[in-house]
Amino acid sequence: MTETPSPSLPAPDGDPATLSGVRHGLLQVGERIALHGSSKRYSITLTAGAVWHTTKGGIPHDDLIGQPEGTVVKTTSGFPFVAFRPLLEEYTVSMPRGATVIYPKDASYILMFTDIFPGARVLEAGAGSGALSLSLLRAIGPTGRLYSYERREDFAAGARRNVEQFFGGPHPAWDLRLGDLNQVIGPETVDRAILDMLAPWECVDAVHDHFVPGGWLCCYVATTTQMGRVMDTIRAHGGWMEPTAVEVNARPWHAEGLAIRPGHAGRGHTGFIVHARRLADGVKAPLRRRRPAPGAYGPDYHGPRPPGVVTE
Ligand SMILES: C[S@@+](CC[C@H](N)C(=O)[O-])C[C@H]1O[C@@H](n2cnc3c(N)ncnc32)[C@H](O)[C@@H]1O
Repeated sequence: MTETPSPSLPAPDGDPATLSGVRHGLLQVGERIALHGSSKRYSITLTAGAVWHTTKGGIPHDDLIGQPEGTVVKTTSGFPFVAFRPLLEEYTVSMPRGATVIYPKDASYILMFTDIFPGARVLEAGAGSGALSLSLLRAIGPTGRLYSYERREDFAAGARRNVEQFFGGPHPAWDLRLGDLNQVIGPETVDRAILDMLAPWECVDAVHDHFVPGGWLCCYVATTTQMGRVMDTIRAHGGWMEPTAVEVNARPWHAEGLAIRPGHAGRGHTGFIVHARRLADGVKAPLRRRRPAPGAYGPDYHGPRPPGVVTE
């Protein structure tokens, strides 16, 4: 069960210098908490006098309010649940969403391999539900700058709600802008950019002009045809190093005594992560020495053509 978060959530009481979104102390009214059952977890917002109903009986919210994290509460039929504040990962997958979010396994890879650092200037499009914005803001911190572009007003509003709910208010490093990236891109210079949209190849030119030399571009796409198109667009542009692509697979395991096997739960395909590094101004990527596979750019290929590739 997932509830819409309450707008009256108390502010995080963590160190304001890091703005982590982490809260401490006893559980309070208005806080969103995760209830961990034997195989599932649920998200509720603590409300004085309310009862959380399950098929195994109810739990009065008052049994949780004023208790520390890690408290065990039982339903009226005796089923135990453990209460914790949701971590960023749990918050991201249970928050309200309009657009499909980047899942934590991919977001964590993106943070490392796009080399997101405290103080970084990062461009992101589209903001969607704000899932990646949350991870980016936490990594760059209040001294960084995140320019998030979103062309749908309803999605931008949802992303703002999710981000402000998590951090307990507006994040000082966040600049959420409404509009199509190609049309409304600002004058900012950025160290890193992440494009999570249907047609990232349409924005490769625009973001190139805003990058510092050596900056990383990351494109997140759902299908192999999108992956091929964006990689060949990056090669054809010439102002980037050879792009790379990866799919991140995380497989949960079950280990109990002699019963050790891959877990039944697990997420299937989510997306592909494409990375490319920005070259210095005016520099063109060295031609690849390795020939593409026969037929790769043959007569049936109608996409962007990297320099030096001959039509067979
Ligand atoms: C898959 S969602 C992004 C999800 C987001 N990364 C997250 O983790 O919550 C793709 C978003 O890109 C937006 N979009 C697509 N093309 C765009 C463009 N050219 N400029 C700005 N936003 C764009 C769409 O409206 C949509 O909300």
